[in-house]
Amino acid sequence: MRTRRIALYGAALLLIAGVGIGLAGCGGQQAQKPEPEEEKAAVTQPQAQPEEPQQPEAQPTEPPEPPQEEPPKDEQDEDAQQALIEKGKQLAQSYGCLSCHTIDGSPSVGPTWKGLYGAEVELEDGTTVVADEAYIRESIVDPNAKVHKGYPPIMPPYTQLSEDELNALVEYIKSLGGNGGKH
Ligand code: HEC
Repeated sequence: MRTRRIALYGAALLLIAGVGIGLAGCGGQQAQKPEPEEEKAAVTQPQAQPEEPQQPEAQPTEPPEPPQEEPPKDEQDEDAQQALIEKGKQLAQSYGCLSCHTIDGSPSVGPTWKGLYGAEVELEDGTTVVADEAYIRESIVDPNAKVHKGYPPIMPPYTQLSEDELNALVEYIKSLGGNGGKH
């Protein structure tokens, strides 16, 4: 009988011990699990934070664009002016103006364009005009309205020119300079 009781006690102790170890094991596992989760949470939070600063970085790249538009405006004006002069140069060649006019001051069938803009032009009727934009325009569209003294009135009127073409030709002639003296 005694041995049986001891065996029962032993079995009971083993059970209690087993349950105790089991609980301790579970407890240990439960205590260990939260640690990796906290570490993971700690790792994922810093990863999410760097993404937020990237958005403010992308936003400042947009505002700098409006200030950039202001300086190029002058450049665009200059570019447009340069393009207009270049167009006038090409038109002067394609319309055959340069077969009668020079741009280097040398004499030809017609007066040179060099230094024409703003210069005093003596006309066939003895009067003098300043070769302003209006005079240059009129001289292209209606050359016989005011004939440059000493030149034959043989220039054909260029009435087929568009306003853009006329502007380009006038700008080109203006770009060839003028000293305000006699022409
Ligand atoms: C057949 C020759 C000839 C052609 C082509 C010709 N011109 Fe003339 N052009 C003249 C002569 C000659 C004069 C001067 C007599 C006059 O005032 O009409 C003149 C005068 C001018 C004047 C006034 C110059 C000044 O000193 O008073 C301008 C500006 C002018 N031409 C622009 C042009 C343009 C632009 C073209 C082409 C679209 C052109 N001409 C084509 C012969 C020509």
